[in-house]
Amino acid sequence: MRNKTILSISFSLLWFVSCNPTDYKKHNNLEMRTYLDGKNAYESNCSACHGKKGEGFNNLYPALNNSSLYQNRSNEIPCTIFYGRKGNVVMPSFKNLNTETILAITNYLMEEYQSEGTKKFFDKNNLEETIKKCSNN
Ligand code: HEC
Repeated sequence: MRNKTILSISFSLLWFVSCNPTDYKKHNNLEMRTYLDGKNAYESNCSACHGKKGEGFNNLYPALNNSSLYQNRSNEIPCTIFYGRKGNVVMPSFKNLNTETILAITNYLMEEYQSEGTKKFFDKNNLEETIKKCSNN
């Protein structure tokens, strides 16, 4: 009986360790879980227009994969997600997403497309501050 219990505990531990490796790994600079949350949320909310790899679509939807966005106007990422944009083509607002999801999408994009060496990320506080201070809103 005791042996059985020990055996089943070790199997559960083995399962836990082997099936949850993402909890312990990092994706270069970002916690793996944040990276994957961001990637999933990007794919379900953004990639239809901006492309799975942020490549954009013709002149309609701007590319997000190769842009000055990440150098000096990274604030525009959470601002655009939260408020949307009205250019020639409208980007809808994603206000309905919670702060954690907006944070995960923003940091996912920054991890993927910021140039190496200069990587900066948002945390929850400065993301909320940034959204409060977005210009034109
Ligand atoms: C229905 C299509 C559509 C969806 C969905 C969409 N966007 Fe956009 N996005 C646009 C358009 C159109 C623009 C350009 C608006 C303009 O002309 O200013 C834009 C602009 C942007 C910009 C500014 C790019 C730059 O270089 O200035 C960012 C950042 C952005 N989108 C991120 C996102 C993210 C992140 C999501 C998912 C949460 C998303 N978008 C979902 C259509 C979309």
